[in-house]
Amino acid sequence: MDRFRIQGGTPLRGTVRTSGAKNAALPCLAASLLTDEPVILRNLPSVRDIRTTCGLLKSLGVEIAEDEQSWAWPSTSARQLKIHAAKISTVEVPWEQVRTMRASTLILGPLVARCGEARVSLPGGCAIGARPIDLHIKGLEKLGAEITTEHGMVIARSKRLRGGRIYFDRITVTGTEDLLMAATLAEGETILDNAAREPEVEDLANLLIKMGAKITGAGTSTIRVEGVERLRGAEHTIIPDRIEAGTFLAAAGITGGDITVEDCQPDHLTAVIEKFRAAGMTITAPTATSLRASLPGFGAGPLRAADMTTAEHPGFPTDMQAQYMALATQAEGISVVTENIFENRFMHAPELVRMGADIRVDGNRAVVRGRTPLSGAGITASDLRASASLVMAGLAAQGETILERVYHIDRGYERIEEKLNSLGARITREPSE
Ligand code: EPZ
Repeated sequence: MDRFRIQGGTPLRGTVRTSGAKNAALPCLAASLLTDEPVILRNLPSVRDIRTTCGLLKSLGVEIAEDEQSWAWPSTSARQLKIHAAKISTVEVPWEQVRTMRASTLILGPLVARCGEARVSLPGGCAIGARPIDLHIKGLEKLGAEITTEHGMVIARSKRLRGGRIYFDRITVTGTEDLLMAATLAEGETILDNAAREPEVEDLANLLIKMGAKITGAGTSTIRVEGVERLRGAEHTIIPDRIEAGTFLAAAGITGGDITVEDCQPDHLTAVIEKFRAAGMTITAPTATSLRASLPGFGAGPLRAADMTTAEHPGFPTDMQAQYMALATQAEGISVVTENIFENRFMHAPELVRMGADIRVDGNRAVVRGRTPLSGAGITASDLRASASLVMAGLAAQGETILERVYHIDRGYERIEEKLNSLGARITREPSE
């Protein structure tokens, strides 16, 4: 198990490139199950969850050809995989697989649509919440699947799914993606109401349309799908990771630096950009695919307090909440951070307090009183985005921070220490004692 040793206090300056979006790559990998022809995906991030999903697909009998060259670091060509689900040897996704990565539930919809059956272990909760999949299951039932659960497995069966109208009584990203994939091969029309509008949903729909699916409305709250008999292979480039890009913008603010993030899509980050500007940061878009963030006077600071509430896209993303909280500790005044998506997503707060922050958590609200100087300490990561928040705090702190369990951050960030060190950070990765 690795840990990071972080020397703080240096303003980060320079240019960094965003990798492909993990949360777009995962459903796109699952979509390859919908056809017996090869699917080529480019700009895949070299992160643990992608490797985990490839292992899962291979366990189902899917062939995956890796272009070894493109996975070398730093890669010159976009990382690409050729995924060929010519034959599927089993429809079972075991517990140990889902336990490692709950997004394995994205296999449920495509598998039952392609094979008429899927047996996927119910995901346990995780650090940030119970993470049920009741809406995935209800949606599949609306498409005519017969669902049973036994020994912790969800078993979905259907000779052929038939179109239906699905209303999500809670907006769910992977729920929308799971059912969007299932609906592409269902007989007749499916309408997904109150669907998730995240850019990653739209990216998945763009791949499915290239595969021959008939989809309109992706990226809006109502998605219509006209089922087809079969889908064909396709080639697709994954969108940039907006959360990674937002994390680097936050790093510029918290260290009083000046960072240009390239290979990003500014229109995916509107709420984040507006909030960072409200906090006093200067953010510009030098080109259509880059953003530049700094404090006024290049580090003159300080940031200003600004309340923030997470919401489904296009609102402020929950996956940026922890990073914003770290930033708010360096802002003058009181920032109230409200988390509306997950029930337990403040685990970074006590670690930030140990570094000197003044944060009071009360239910789904955290009151951050800034500006408090941060000092390096031994801290522990609990989940993917909390880890990113703690790395940023370490970069802003005086002295040395040891961050344990960085495997959490490796799930969703590609060699984050190398990218940050290229901006002047001083982070070393080392085995934990
Ligand atoms: C996706 O998770 C992302 N993961 C998460 O990113 C992200 O935080 C989340 O969407 C919200 O944006 C992937 O895309 C792989 P939800 P997902 O279903 O789909 C409740 C990261 O850091 N709900 O939109 O699992 C649920 O408990 C990860 O990259 C139900 O009640 O999230 C939550 O409170 C973390 N029943 C809310 O809805 C269901 O059937 C939103 O969850 C499904 C969800």
